[in-house]
Amino acid sequence: MSNVIVRTANNVWDWFNERAPGFMPVYRKHMSEYYAPKNFNIWYIFGVLSLVVLVNQIVTGIFLTMHYKPSAEEAFASVEYIMRDVEWGWLIRYMHSTGASLFFIVVYIHMFRGLMYGSYQKPRELVWILGMLIYLVLMAEAFLGYVLPWGQMSFWGAKVIISLFGAVPVIGNGLTEWIMGDYLPSDATLNRFFALHVIALPLVLLLLVVLHIFALHEVGSNNPDGVEIKKGPKGNRWSKTAPADGIPFHPYYTVKDTFYVVAFFVLAAFVIFFAPDFGGWFLEHDNFVEANRLVTPEHIKPVWYYTPYYAMLRVVPDKLGGVLVMFGAIAILFLVPWLDRARVRSYRYRGLLSKLLLAAFAVSFIWLGKIGAGPGTDPVETIVGRFLTAFYFLFFLTMPIWTRIDKTKPVPDRVTTHD
Ligand code: HEM
Repeated sequence: MSNVIVRTANNVWDWFNERAPGFMPVYRKHMSEYYAPKNFNIWYIFGVLSLVVLVNQIVTGIFLTMHYKPSAEEAFASVEYIMRDVEWGWLIRYMHSTGASLFFIVVYIHMFRGLMYGSYQKPRELVWILGMLIYLVLMAEAFLGYVLPWGQMSFWGAKVIISLFGAVPVIGNGLTEWIMGDYLPSDATLNRFFALHVIALPLVLLLLVVLHIFALHEVGSNNPDGVEIKKGPKGNRWSKTAPADGIPFHPYYTVKDTFYVVAFFVLAAFVIFFAPDFGGWFLEHDNFVEANRLVTPEHIKPVWYYTPYYAMLRVVPDKLGGVLVMFGAIAILFLVPWLDRARVRSYRYRGLLSKLLLAAFAVSFIWLGKIGAGPGTDPVETIVGRFLTAFYFLFFLTMPIWTRIDKTKPVPDRVTTHD
């Protein structure tokens, strides 16, 4: 009996490969014969976790779409209906709304890993650029999604953010109206945001993620030592031509990643079941009140993942200046591969100056986030925010200098955990 099953399975497999001869080479290139450095540490799981959260957002999003009504009249009530009446609707909705914040947590850690190990340096500039495009689209996607429940913060957040386009000289007002389809966020705005959120941007995001991973697999992964394993000795137990310090992605890293993905699910479940709004950080309290164009919430603030940029916008006294600083803060990240002139990749082999500056950068970014989440009325905080904004830009603008003058340690010839 088992022989029959094995023979049938083999026949089906042969049948498939004859008709799709291109499948196995792709599988080998990206999985079983993709030789990843053997010294990956925990920082290297956040790419896979980003993928897992992306799938979660798409799957839960599909189920939400089955019950959500994209109209200003019905949107808020339809979300309440999902929460109260749809079977497991509360779970699907929280997996999606909490999932958005988890997405940014893993992506921010993933980006920081890139900064720490110099993963954007030659030849991985394209991987970084595609990553930055993903980050931009992700921010737009999350913004559009936040408007959909049509709560107070959806409405007023949309109004504040879209009005920023009004700062553009000459065409500003026309542009704002064009984006909203009205003078205020309205049914037309909600409809188009729904279309963009559920289909247009997810498609772009998926495409960019595929390109991001393909671009990475062309050049191979970096690692915590920043050693280029392809340039090192050749030959391992699987192949004579593969890098000696590389191990097949499948099964070695698929198994390791599975362990961490399960651990991530446990942590995520704790948040989703016990603190889905995370004290107002993941879902703001004002958003449990239906949108009302006659009542402005006391503090209009975006969700935590935008607040560092929002702080930069607010501490600049001029509206257009603030908008330019905010977009400039994101734009400058694209240039990191060319601003970093260090001779070594990983911070493991960089000097104290680089380490201190990177740590100060991380602290100031989080601090800016805290300022952006506050009411913005404290003058001392505004001054601190200005210093932190200046530091943010100086960190990048002077990067070509301090990465060049800082002392570096000799990089080993091979990754530090080879046999
Ligand atoms: C949806 C969001 C994203 C997904 C699904 C994703 C996925 C991945 C995956 C699976 C890897 C390989 C595993 C790893 O090295 O962790 C990777 C590597 C990388 N990603 Fe992303 N990524 C995302 C966003 C970003 C962003 C926003 C950036 C930076 C701007 C970025 C920069 C990089 C870099 C530089 C590498 C190479 C790391 C190395 O080899 O050391 N990624 N990404």
